[in-house]
Amino acid sequence: MKFYITTPIYYVNSEPHIGSAYTTIVADIIARYKRFMGYDVFFLTGTDEHGQKVLQAAQKAGKDPQEFCDELAEKFKQLWKELKITNDYFIRTTDETHMKTVQKFVAKMKENGDVYKGVYKGWYCVPCETFWNDDEVIKDGDERFCPECKRPVKWVEEENYFFRLSKYRDALLKYYEEHPDFVEPDFRRNEMLKILEGGLKDLSITRTSFKWGVPVEDDPDHVIYVWVDALINYVSAIGYGWNDEMFNKWWPADLHLIGKEINRFHSIIWPAMLMSVGLPLPKKVFAHGWLTVNGQKISKSLGNAIDPRFFVNRYGNDVVRYYLIRDIVFGKDGDFSEERLVHRLNSDLANDYGNLLHRITAMINKYLGGKLPKPSKEESIDRWIKERFLETKGNYYSLMDSYRLTEALDKVWEFIADINKYFNDTKPWVLSKEGKIERLNTVLYNSLEAVFKVALMTLPMMPDTSEEVFRRVSFDEKPSQEHLETWGVLKSGSNVTHGDPLFKKIDTKTFKKVVETVSVGENLITIDDFARVDLRTAKVLEAEKVPNSKKLIRLIVDLGTERRQIVAGIAEYYKPEELVGKTIIVVANLKPAKLMGIESQGMLLAAKSNDTLRLLTVDGEITPGAKVS
Ligand code: MSP
Repeated sequence: MKFYITTPIYYVNSEPHIGSAYTTIVADIIARYKRFMGYDVFFLTGTDEHGQKVLQAAQKAGKDPQEFCDELAEKFKQLWKELKITNDYFIRTTDETHMKTVQKFVAKMKENGDVYKGVYKGWYCVPCETFWNDDEVIKDGDERFCPECKRPVKWVEEENYFFRLSKYRDALLKYYEEHPDFVEPDFRRNEMLKILEGGLKDLSITRTSFKWGVPVEDDPDHVIYVWVDALINYVSAIGYGWNDEMFNKWWPADLHLIGKEINRFHSIIWPAMLMSVGLPLPKKVFAHGWLTVNGQKISKSLGNAIDPRFFVNRYGNDVVRYYLIRDIVFGKDGDFSEERLVHRLNSDLANDYGNLLHRITAMINKYLGGKLPKPSKEESIDRWIKERFLETKGNYYSLMDSYRLTEALDKVWEFIADINKYFNDTKPWVLSKEGKIERLNTVLYNSLEAVFKVALMTLPMMPDTSEEVFRRVSFDEKPSQEHLETWGVLKSGSNVTHGDPLFKKIDTKTFKKVVETVSVGENLITIDDFARVDLRTAKVLEAEKVPNSKKLIRLIVDLGTERRQIVAGIAEYYKPEELVGKTIIVVANLKPAKLMGIESQGMLLAAKSNDTLRLLTVDGEITPGAKVS
């Protein structure tokens, strides 16, 4: 039984953050689960290093692109190591073997009559490395924006090679019909079906205006489009074109795990490319949702593109992994909130799980000299906890097998609640006092065996914690499904260690968020950076709600030398009449922008925390237009 799982390969234009770590952590959890279940697993991750986005980042850093990529690829590798990611290989698109495979793959598409030369005229979004038609981009006056990331797109007119993507529309539709589980979740599959039903256009697959890419074999003025180059990593890493035996062992991939915004590439373009060269399609593409941090989009400029190590160092690797799976429903969008993380740590991990083990091992040490007892005659409550275990195990397998990871953990925690109930209802401390030693032995054995089962089921999510539990209960085999199959795996008579609690609680009164500490402490700018922002005091003269908008208010402010119109998203927090007369702070040199068709000639400053927003004002009278510095 083999299982081949991949993550997307990450652009090396910037360092990894908690959002990019999310995909890799989830993939690691699935890979560990499959190994536990006895599969021969190949887990692939890597870096996507060609294309304009990376090239521009290298130029901005004043570095040779290869040198720049080498440094960043190393940072990704290092991070995965620290996060204990168990990838079997790390592919880089600048690897020579990969580059050769890309050339061969494209040559094969050409051989099969699927590549032709033409002229591309259209828009291109560098941050998304995506071509857009004129009817797809967002229009605002003369400006055009990417429908995906909303940043400006560039007009491109180039001679390019094209891939006959349109030819594969019907075959893809048929494939989707015959393989209803090909793309998950269902709502993502429907999005893809809609695109397919709308028809496909041929895809430009080379560029000539820059050189940072894989050259076309017989026409090296063209470099291969970064997405085509990148997608091929999934076959080049396992030997396509250079190691048939290995390739035949692993292909097709069992699971491409990706974020929702790159689903079209994986569920339409990639399958069509594979059809073109005559390879079977991956068994499943699973597109997960996006993370925000404390309610905000993750972005470098917002200062919340946080290195996951900050969280890991403070709370522990297992805690971060647990939180990401338990709190953010796998498949949906979710918010990374430190308050929620701390809450989960204190209640699910420290109270429900850690404290349970602590109480059991304390009693085994206190009453039974630290040796695991032998269970004897069963009573109905003992049968109940075993039944609960069997039920949990069945649910766990089926949920994990269908990648419903959050629900799998929900079921495990229901079982933990039952073990707590079993322990509290059987009252081992009373049994000890009353000298009911046989009953005491049975109850403590069952309690510890049950917690051991929890450690097995949570091994993929919290490997270090489970290993620690295994040590304490003297379980020294390689944990695998067989140990989860039957009750009574722990050996009576073996040593039981009562160590420190598995998890340390965080004091919620004194706790300070990493996000705040980091964005205040780590994101340093120079005084010159700050001086570029022209902050001024401004007196609000008029304010009114923008018709048909829930959030926007239009203000006229006095800037001393002139009057300005500012549109601000503050209507949920202020009534227009509350604003008139206030002296506020505005960014006076911000490029005007249109919001709902109304020009905003500046931006006002406000502080926002959770559900509150307050405007910045001045501490007393001052003339409008005064410089803030
Ligand atoms: N290089 C392409 C993928 C090529 S695969 C053949 C790419 N790279 S990326 O670095 O921009 O993104 C890689 C992955 O990180 C994507 O799956 C993306 O969804 C994920 N994430 C990046 N930011 C994220 C969040 N804020 N939340 C969750 N996942 C996010 O796209």
